[in-house]
Amino acid sequence: MDWGMSNRLSRIIKTDGRTVMLAVDHGYFLGPTTKLENPHKTIEPLLPFADSIMLTRGVLRSSVHPETSTPIVLRVSGGTSVIGESLANEGITTPIIEALRLNATAVALSIFVGTPHEKQTLLNLSSLVSEGESVGMPVLAVTAVGKELEKRDARYLALSCRIASELGARLVKTYYCEGFYKVVEGCPVPLVIAGGPRLETEMDAFKMTHDALAAGAVGVDMGRNIWQNEHPVPMIRAVNAIVHEKASPKEALEIYKNLKSKRK
Ligand code: R5P
Repeated sequence: MDWGMSNRLSRIIKTDGRTVMLAVDHGYFLGPTTKLENPHKTIEPLLPFADSIMLTRGVLRSSVHPETSTPIVLRVSGGTSVIGESLANEGITTPIIEALRLNATAVALSIFVGTPHEKQTLLNLSSLVSEGESVGMPVLAVTAVGKELEKRDARYLALSCRIASELGARLVKTYYCEGFYKVVEGCPVPLVIAGGPRLETEMDAFKMTHDALAAGAVGVDMGRNIWQNEHPVPMIRAVNAIVHEKASPKEALEIYKNLKSKRK
């Protein structure tokens, strides 16, 4: 692997082989998502505890100080909205030259396997990988399911993740599911999990993080379960402890509760 590519990947996946990515790209199709209405306000306190941040160029320029040392994972696919005909009908919204100009550490794009737009999104991935590889920019592929959350099972996700890796993604983001080890087994590049819609309890998010890592994920690229929580900083610090300090879900809950009580 060329130096630039290795360097960029090492800025995302830390020396312990793990990563806490903070996803705040939701507005690109959801608009002003609850608790992300003012991106700067949401992002700023969480940055010190994130190994990287995933967002669009618009939110990066408007809401993040250019002095930040947190690596940027730039969302470069989109062109759809939650009220439009199909979330799967994505194109590439941001060229590689812009990712370089913004000093991005990686670019991220969604694929929609099994939809009428499967081919188009897979070819988007292939072209992005070709351009990315030529300048040392890793591509993170997101195995998106749009509104069809029930699609999140091991068979479907294993298929999507494997295809993403075959087309050259250096990193794949998917969902946690029952039998997640099968998804990991079939994917020869590192996997991170999304958090998905907010779970009922903090413990649910901690267990999911812990179980995904135990099955072989290298970390999380989590959004709503962090910043939609009433205490986002304690939440990200607890998730960080599971990922980097091998905290158990129970220990993470203690960390969350302690930090939460100190902030009152
Ligand atoms: C979805 O396509 C977005 O890219 C989000 O970044 C992703 O779903 C992760 O965020 P959350 O943990 O809120 O699901």
